[in-house]
Formats: sequence, structure tokens, C-alpha cells
Amino acid sequence: MKSYEEQRFFLNCDLGSMQNVQTDQQKKLPQPPLEKPIANPDNLIDLPVPEDLVNPGKDLYEIINQRRSRRKYTAEAIDLEHLSFLLWCTQGVKKVFDRGGNKISLRTVPSAGARHPLETYLSVLHVEGLEQGIYRYCPLEHQLEFLHAVDELPNKTVDACLEQEFVGDSSVIFFWTAIPYRCEWRYAFMAAKLILLDAGHVCQNLYLAAEALCLGVCGIAAYAQEKSNELLKVDGEDEMVVYIASVGKL
Ligand SMILES: Cc1cc2nc3c(=O)[nH]c(=O)nc-3n(C[C@H](O)[C@H](O)[C@H](O)COP(=O)(O)O)c2cc1C
Repeated sequence: MKSYEEQRFFLNCDLGSMQNVQTDQQKKLPQPPLEKPIANPDNLIDLPVPEDLVNPGKDLYEIINQRRSRRKYTAEAIDLEHLSFLLWCTQGVKKVFDRGGNKISLRTVPSAGARHPLETYLSVLHVEGLEQGIYRYCPLEHQLEFLHAVDELPNKTVDACLEQEFVGDSSVIFFWTAIPYRCEWRYAFMAAKLILLDAGHVCQNLYLAAEALCLGVCGIAAYAQEKSNELLKVDGEDEMVVYIASVGKL
């Protein structure tokens, strides 16, 4: 367990405190990939194109003014079209280009140094056209990869969220993992702070996009770390859950 002093060092650390550190990028080590490799191309699912979504017509003032954390869901299925829009709003790729031999992606969310160190996993409980299971969003392809089925997925997901029962009535639960090296490659020990700042931007876009579609979201930091990592089958060393959000019909 880290002492408060160490945690406050983490909050205070800045680019100035990195002056004596040579980062892996400066050492010209290879850039880590923009997204996790697809494990099984046969399990890819095309998502509806986000620009085809019929605009529900709410304006930004209304969306921001109405946003709340919503925990009462009807446990009904949400449309795949809506899920596609939520994924695009939280990690969608708008442009990929080359800078000095390195690949940069620009997405619908900002990210320190455009490192985009987060991956999006879904625990799908009720989504039209999708089986229950664990999926990963592939932002470069705008596709979903089905990863694995889980017995009693609603219960296991609630369990991973420290028994917060409302999660079991949601339609889909977003789990954001960090791949720290994607950010450490450039920012060394400052990466952890930046990763968490990035996660806040991502979840805020989910809140606002869901509000536009009259869906409810609740950000979740009260979760069981090991159970969440196990549910997604991530190792907790090179990739770990950093934030969760439930999404459901109101
Ligand atoms: C980082 C973060 C973690 C949160 N974790 C939880 C959680 O585990 N469970 C929960 O019910 N709400 C959680 N919330 C929602 C807050 O309780 C909520 O944002 C706060 O009470 C203000 O309400 P509002 O979002 O409706 O304005 C979290 C919010 C944030 C930003």
C-alpha cells in the first residue's frame, strides 16, 4: 500500500519533475501499438456507422443541464445503433497520421500527448443483436470483438462492482482498462496521473452522449479490482481496469 506522501507525489508530478528521465520514446524504443491486437478476426462484429444515427435533437445546454448519474434502469435491451454511438463518442477514431515515424490517432476524446492508453471492454447484458458476454471495442476498425461468454454474467458483473445492485439492471457496462506502457513510453512515471485524467474525459463523453439518447449512465469507481480484471481476463500487470460505467434504459 502506498503512503499518502507517495500518492501526493503522484498528484504533484509534472513534466518538470521528469527533466532527468530519459523516456523510452527519447531512447527511440518502438512505439507501442495504438490498440490491442484483435485476438480472433472471426469474432468481429460490424457496428452501425455513427453518422447514420438519427439525431435525437437535444441541444448541448439541455444535455449538460440534465446530466445526472442514473441508477434506475428498466433492464431492457438498448439498440446496437445506440451502443455504436456511445462507443464512438468515447473512443471513436477520427484520423490516424504519421508524426516522425510514429502513428498518432485523433479521437472524439482528448488524451495527453494523444497517447490514448485506454481500452474499452463491455459486459453486454441486454443489447439488441448481441449475445450476453464480454466484448472489446476496436476503435480503429469501429467493430466489436466478442471475447468470451461468462456464466451468470449479470451476477458476476454486480460482484465486480462491489454488489452495487443497480448494475444488474443495466443494459451494458463499460469497463475501461489502461495499458500503462502506451503512456509510459512517452511520460515515464507521470503516466499514471495522465491515464486517470484521460479516463475522466472518456466517461464524461459517455454521460453526455447517453443523455442525448435518453439513456442513463453511472460512473463507478467503487469496484473490486481483481474481480474486474478477472472478468475481462486482463492480467493486472500490463493492463488493468481503471474505471467502470453502467448504461441502461430509463
Ligand atoms: C470517479 C467517479 C466514481 C463514481 N463511483 C460511483 C460508484 O461507484 N457508485 C455510484 O453509485 N456512483 C458513483 N459515482 C457517481 C457519483 O456518486 C455522482 O457523480 C455524484 O453523487 C454526483 O451526482 P450526479 O452525477 O448526478 O451529478 C461516481 C462518480 C465519479 C465521477
